[in-house]
Amino acid sequence: AHRRLFVGGNWKMNGDRESLERLVGTLNIASLHDQTEVVCAAPSIYLDFVRSILDPRIAVAAQNRFKVAKGAFTSEISPLTCGLGADWVILGHSERRHVFGEGDELIGQKVAHALESGLGVIACIGEKLEEREAGTTEEVVYAQTQAIAENVKDWGRVVPAYEPVWAIGTGKTTSPEQAQEVHGKLRAWLRVNVSDDVADSLRLIYGGSVTGANCRELASQRDVDGFLVGGASLKPEFVDIVNARP
Ligand code: G3H
Repeated sequence: AHRRLFVGGNWKMNGDRESLERLVGTLNIASLHDQTEVVCAAPSIYLDFVRSILDPRIAVAAQNRFKVAKGAFTSEISPLTCGLGADWVILGHSERRHVFGEGDELIGQKVAHALESGLGVIACIGEKLEEREAGTTEEVVYAQTQAIAENVKDWGRVVPAYEPVWAIGTGKTTSPEQAQEVHGKLRAWLRVNVSDDVADSLRLIYGGSVTGANCRELASQRDVDGFLVGGASLKPEFVDIVNARP
């Protein structure tokens, strides 16, 4: 594919100052493909620290943010974190949807507000196993994409991540053909519902048990433009995933 590869590492709720310092040390000296855009999503408490020690060629993301800038929202975190290191935010991750009960409406509001706040958005979608088995994958991912699309004016800072819930943290990677099938349909959906230009230029990334071993074949699929990596992003193998394309 001609689109520039985008690889995000989602560290989730892992790491402490010491282990993240070691991880950053590995990334800082790694040889990273200069055509790949790399973003690491650190736990909020370490965002500023990670930004201060991470090589500037790697961007930093928050893993979630609330839908307004400030107010009486105990424990929530404002999207006004641009000055504090993050350029990006992951929204609608399956763990937010299915462990914490976030719905399409809230995720849409968060997307709108994050974009207005100047953050880029990695917007996650994906079906559960029972939805795939019931043959409703398309319906589910189109509805999730629609709820996001309604809140986007400028697609230049949006990267949709297709993450089938059954493939996340399970070691069950979607086959390259299965990933391509959904990515191809999503691009067609964007063509019809947004524009040719957005459909052609948008990077559609894949997440769910991506490893150094399976990333190349996935990255060679026509409509797979990168990855959102969980478990493997905490290991040196993340570098191989960044370099998945020759
Ligand atoms: O955000 C990343 C995804 O949840 C994938 O996680 O690579 O551990 O399966 P995983």
